Amino acid sequence: MRVLVLGSAAGGGFPQWNCNCRNCRGVREGSLRASPRTQSSIAVSAEADPTAWVIINASPDILAQLRGLPELQPGRRPRDSGISAVILVNSQLDHTLGLAMLREGDRLQVYCTASVRADLTTASPLLRVLENYCGVDWHEIELTPCTFQLPALPRLEFTAIAVAGKAPPYSPYRQASSQGDNIALRVSDRLTGRSLFYAPSLAAVDTALLEWMKSADCLLVDGTFWSDDEMIRSGVGLKRARDMGHLPLSGERGLLSYLRALPKVRKILTHINNTNPILDEDSAERRELEQAGIEVAHDRMEIRL
Ligand code: MLT
Ligand code: MN
Ligand code: ZN
Repeated sequence: MRVLVLGSAAGGGFPQWNCNCRNCRGVREGSLRASPRTQSSIAVSAEADPTAWVIINASPDILAQLRGLPELQPGRRPRDSGISAVILVNSQLDHTLGLAMLREGDRLQVYCTASVRADLTTASPLLRVLENYCGVDWHEIELTPCTFQLPALPRLEFTAIAVAGKAPPYSPYRQASSQGDNIALRVSDRLTGRSLFYAPSLAAVDTALLEWMKSADCLLVDGTFWSDDEMIRSGVGLKRARDMGHLPLSGERGLLSYLRALPKVRKILTHINNTNPILDEDSAERRELEQAGIEVAHDRMEIRL
């Protein structure tokens, strides 16, 4: 299985257009050792058939991401794409606005839960808008049973796991979360038995989730914030990581405390907010990750499993 990181930043990207936090200013001025990043998305393919890919989350940056990855354009016909389907893990704007950028293509094959579809047909009616362009075939991700396959990628098996998280600010589910607002995905290669656990939005880890994480070969998980009050401390906002549905990395029950307990698994952080000190390659926090054997995803990173 091949996993290409299309974008590794949280909503807003890095640097964010209106942000002058230490990281954004530093990367803009060239005074910080850090790489710009686009918003969170990955492409997955079974290695044997590199002409068919599934995109997991469609970021508003998708056009720039695709331009930088010609592998996703097989070029078989005058109009063509390697994107055979799109899976959405939630209905956040940074994960869904890119659907509108794909409107010139064939009918979109969109896989998401019923509650994500509800958001995308009512409060943010993207799927309805797209009916007037390419059209959308919705495939429901049911949570029981939760395993599914994609016709174009028969070697891969997908398992959706409901995880704690927050629906987007525009959603009626924001204050009363419903199961299926936010999922993690396990992607297994049926030929090699190797698997990826992908969860760019994770508000909590319980024992059941830890078992899923333990059994994967590689984790690509929520690295949004280092600390709960990071936005406040950076002077850019009043929201706490936990209010936004992201478990901070540091602290007694932070995500790192769980990752450290999984020594055999490859661990990579993604969906990194522009305020997060781990973006600064010279920071103490980045050093701490290196010492714990935890990687930081970057755009165009390739993971072979
Ligand atoms: C989130 O995951 O919380 C979002 O990235 C927030 C946003 O879209 O700005
Ligand atoms: Mn996000
Ligand atoms: Zn910033």
